[in-house]
Amino acid sequence: MKDILTAPFVEEMKETTANMYRLGWDERNGGNISYMLDEEEVAQYLDLSNVIRTIDTGFDATPLIGKIFIVTGSGKYFKNVTKAPQINLGIVRIAKDGTTAELLWGFEDGGTVTSEFPAHMMSHMARLEVNPANRVVLHAHPTYTLAMNFVHQLDDRAVTRSLWQMCTECMVVFPDGIGVLPWMLCGGNDIGIATAEKMKEYRLVIWGLHGLYGAGKDLDETFGLLETVEKAAQLYMLTAHLPRLYTITDPQLLQIAKAYHVEDICRKDFLDI
Ligand code: 13P
Ligand code: ZN
Repeated sequence: MKDILTAPFVEEMKETTANMYRLGWDERNGGNISYMLDEEEVAQYLDLSNVIRTIDTGFDATPLIGKIFIVTGSGKYFKNVTKAPQINLGIVRIAKDGTTAELLWGFEDGGTVTSEFPAHMMSHMARLEVNPANRVVLHAHPTYTLAMNFVHQLDDRAVTRSLWQMCTECMVVFPDGIGVLPWMLCGGNDIGIATAEKMKEYRLVIWGLHGLYGAGKDLDETFGLLETVEKAAQLYMLTAHLPRLYTITDPQLLQIAKAYHVEDICRKDFLDI
């Protein structure tokens, strides 16, 4: 059996949490990650018949039965993942009943999965329906995206348009737009259900006055999604109070979509054309 602390997926989690912390997106225990792993790969590091303990999730994740995820722990600080992955991270498998998570590794101080486990698992279920290659869900509290929430109309079309207009790359990176939820109580099934509903349509969901969710095929791609939204929100907030002399127009946004072959997935109903 190989040493799990050398596993590429543990390394990736360390790197991603460190980057998110460095960028100021994940103060204290803010933010959480879930990353679906390949069973054969995990079996090189862990005895998959050895369940350390079980965790009652409180929701049904039948489509994910048998799937294995590496997840950040509830109340754990991203800043500490690199120095103690075995405490701040856990590897869980969704049990045969669909409502239990079996701990296979980690959370060595008795910890448990992120309080946003419902939103994560429900988002995985929603995204896998749309894209079977989806593996990752990330949640963070990026500063400028959050700041923008306080001064910008909170609806899918309005937020997507404002962000598309801030960087030429935005249309290329998220032509499918961003879903926006109003403020809701976090850490439970209701916000999970609402997030998953948006995830049927979008890979990005803003939790109003709270943070940002992204989903993708790997950590790099998903991190890139959040990073691009945050960059655009930063530009928005740096210019929102100043007279706007120029803007990327709707015909130009469509021109980008055509040139980068994303016209088919681009939310054209979000353009005034
Ligand atoms: P957890 O520490 O439970 O992951 O919660 C952090 C958070 O961002 C809540 O939305
Ligand atoms: Zn949060």
